[in-house]
Order: sequence, then structure tokens, then C-alpha cells
Amino acid sequence: MKTSKDLLISVSIIASDLSVMGSSVAAFDPHAVDLLHMDVMDGHFVPNLTFGPGYIGNLRKNSSIPLDVHLMIEKPEDSIEKYIETSPWCITIHYESTKFPVRVLELIRKKGIRAGISINPSTPAESIFDILEYADLALVMSVDPGFFGQSFMDMSLKKIEKIRDFIEKNGYTGALIQVDGGINKDNIKSAVNAGASVIVAGSSAFKDGRINENVKEMKILGNR
Ligand code: DX5
Ligand code: ZN
Repeated sequence: MKTSKDLLISVSIIASDLSVMGSSVAAFDPHAVDLLHMDVMDGHFVPNLTFGPGYIGNLRKNSSIPLDVHLMIEKPEDSIEKYIETSPWCITIHYESTKFPVRVLELIRKKGIRAGISINPSTPAESIFDILEYADLALVMSVDPGFFGQSFMDMSLKKIEKIRDFIEKNGYTGALIQVDGGINKDNIKSAVNAGASVIVAGSSAFKDGRINENVKEMKILGNR
């Protein structure tokens, strides 16, 4: 039986060709790829622009793999309902993107969807301590968001540890820690050791087009 802290690999689809993802996703093995990580970028919160709820809703029809929606958009409160309608596994908002993170997290939770709160590398781990009770997942960015293929920042490991310790101390036993950016076969174990159990993989998952094999290998290395 899977427990809530089993290692989950969330494949970031922006690291591949989005225009053909609807058909390429059919080759993703649901026994290997646990989640599809959907990086929503608005060209304001981050310099890059990707897709919105329409694309997510369409992709959902092509795969049984649950969706992990990462909103890198300003004022998520203005459009959160549209993302909720896509019925994902989780919706994560950025602490830096809104004055009302608790209101947005509560809206997501109320619809029976996991609510995630994310912090950029320059945001201290302590910033979200007071609102962690409103979240089901804390996402520690291990790169500055906006692009796939960047190098993992080692300093994020300390932040993961701090959040893990806070979660344990306060008995938020169901809360998950996710890490996103530059994770590969060489560093996945250190992220897991620090306390992360939901691992985002973009470039490393699509390397040489061997998605299922790469993800399986990463899971073995993370569990070792
Ligand atoms: C960065 C995105 C990440 C990224 C991951 O802004 O949030 O999800 O696509 O890609 P890699 O694993 O290549 O860093
Ligand atoms: Zn992401």
C-alpha cells in the first residue's frame, strides 16, 4: 500500500514539446510517472509564458496520470476558479504572488483539491511557517522559477530541512514537501534525505526520450 510519504515523481512537461504533448503523454507509464507537473507562467510573475487552464483541461482528457498544477502567476485569486475546474491532484500557488495566500489555499481545499504553497530561492523558509496549517504541500523552488534546465541550488536543501522540522514539530503529519528545479539522478537522494517526497523532474525526465526509464531510475536512486 502506498503511504502519503511514498516518493512521487512529477514530470514537468514544459521540458518537452508542448504542441504534441496530447499524444506523447500516451507513452507515459502511469506506474512510473506519478504526476504530470504543469508549469503555468504568465509573463509577469516570471519572465516566461506557457499555458493556462484551457490547455490543462485538454491534456487531462489524454491521460489518467493526475495533474500537479504549479501556478507561477501574479494574483492567482483572479483566476483560481478556472484551475480548480480542471480537477487536478494539487494546485500550488506562490507565496510571493499574492497578498491573500490563505484565502486562495482555502478556496482550493474547499473543492477537495490539495493546496500547495511555494517559495522562491530568495524567500526564507520561515515565511510560510504561519500558514502551513492551511496547506497540504510546501514547494521549495531549487531554481529561480521561469525556465527548465537550470542548475539545482544546494541552499534549498537547508530550507527543505527547516520546513520538514517545522512540520514534524507541529504534527502536520499529512503535509508533503515538494522540490522543483534541477533535480537529476545525482542529487535526488539529497533532496529526499532533506525531507522532500514529491520530486519534480523536467530535463532529467525527458533526457534521451527515455521518460519511463529515467523516472524509474530516479525513484530507485531516491529510495536507496
Ligand atoms: C521552473 C519550473 C520547473 C521546471 C523543472 O520554473 O517550475 O518545474 O520546469 O525543470 P528542470 O527539472 O529541468 O529544472
Ligand atoms: Zn514547476
